[in-house]
Amino acid sequence: MKLFRMFLIPLLAAGSCLASDLTGNWVAENPSPDGTVRKTYFELKQEESRITGHIRLTQFYYTITESTGGPDGFTVTASMQDGKNPRQVVYEGKLIGEELHMATRRRPDAALTELVAHRAPAGEGAMPERIAPPALHKVPYNGLANTPPMGWNSWNKFAGRVDDATVRSIADAMATNGMKEAGYTYINIDDTWEGERDAQGNIQPNKKFPDMKALADYVHGKGLKLGIYSSPGPHTCAGYEGSYAHEEQDARTYATWGIDYLKYDWCDARNFYSDDDMQAIYQKMGDALNASGRKIVYSLCQYGRADVWKWAPQVSGNLWRTTGDIRDAWESMSHIVEQQVDLAPYAGPGHWNDPDMLEIGNSHMTDTEYRTHMSLWSMLAAPLIAGNDLRDMTKEIHDILTNREVIAIDQDPLGKPATRISKSGDHEIWARPLSGDAYAVALYNRGTSDAKMTLKWSDIGLKKAPAKARDLWTHSDVRPGKDDYSVEVPGHGVALLRLSAK
Ligand code: GLA
Repeated sequence: MKLFRMFLIPLLAAGSCLASDLTGNWVAENPSPDGTVRKTYFELKQEESRITGHIRLTQFYYTITESTGGPDGFTVTASMQDGKNPRQVVYEGKLIGEELHMATRRRPDAALTELVAHRAPAGEGAMPERIAPPALHKVPYNGLANTPPMGWNSWNKFAGRVDDATVRSIADAMATNGMKEAGYTYINIDDTWEGERDAQGNIQPNKKFPDMKALADYVHGKGLKLGIYSSPGPHTCAGYEGSYAHEEQDARTYATWGIDYLKYDWCDARNFYSDDDMQAIYQKMGDALNASGRKIVYSLCQYGRADVWKWAPQVSGNLWRTTGDIRDAWESMSHIVEQQVDLAPYAGPGHWNDPDMLEIGNSHMTDTEYRTHMSLWSMLAAPLIAGNDLRDMTKEIHDILTNREVIAIDQDPLGKPATRISKSGDHEIWARPLSGDAYAVALYNRGTSDAKMTLKWSDIGLKKAPAKARDLWTHSDVRPGKDDYSVEVPGHGVALLRLSAK
């Protein structure tokens, strides 16, 4: 009996690797010109015409839920739960010799991607061990971001195309086109800068960023600051190296390079931790940044899950995303505004709600809509992180981004975000108190047709007309009526007023 087991079991195991069988571990490699490789792992088990297993792709770990066919032609559908949203991928393919030739779409409307997978040793691509989250404590405030951070981030316009030369030329543009004078400071590199770790585990930039310290010196030389991006998971959202198990080491590396801002994006951490663990996991990097010896703004990006606004200041978060990713589309931007309605009480000097970066100038909205974007982000005391190509913008876009009177609302030292004080169909009025007993009021027309909108002084608790009312887009004082003020607001537009006693 013992002998039987000794021989039969290895034979069965070997049988599962026969060329005509899909069972096993497979890897498809997608090399990038930056010298890094995105890998997709397929851990498959074929039993007659049923295929089960897992697919690991960038930050996503899918379980195969449906399959048809076999080695001569198969389709597998794999699913996962991403927060409240289900996600699915479908792969079609067949075994040719020792290669799995496949095609997939990441979304039903995306282009077809072809890939070839090879057998990989068992365990390659397996999830690392889960590290237990630490006990909670209060991370001391780092003293930064007294007003909402202002700057630029590479993702919305450049995504994976960002590189050293682009960052330098964006810094040149910001330093010379009036943005720096208007208050923009941070030049933030988003995902896809990451390379491999060296033998000591130190993170290296990839080929696109030959010398991060030299780049930081360059940006600092322009009177600006440099930001970077990572994830608490082993992989970032684009499938690059994350900070999992390297938090302190990475924070020290950033400090050595001269980094001033970190956006820390949940991504692959979803495969190890539940939303209930988020505070503890973000606390780790909060502690690590505080111990790094450099003042680094800490930007939490976990898509507004787990009521982050209630605990982000406890982990020394200076700003936290309140929503999923913005798109350069009216529907996306206006939907995000709707999601901010109850969040005003949570923000203040040092800690801000972040409804995501600006899309102003990325060309899929009208200038009126971009003025609305700028007005409402300023009303919300949101970080003003431009997401366009600062080297190439129209005068209108430049004027929107550098409207000093609007920026002064965003940067008001009282730090109190606007609340929605009235809503009638598509017509909304938002107001925020400003330092010096002043108010900012936005008359926001979500409808598509122009409309006359009226603000009553009593709506914002004023007993009489303010002495001064200024329209911050026409840059002119307007005449406040005895009881109210009426203005024609274009469809998808905003009239933005500053009201004061003098
Ligand atoms: C997530 C973030 C985005 C951007 C990308 C980069 O989607 O929410 O802002 O950082 O990852 O991969």
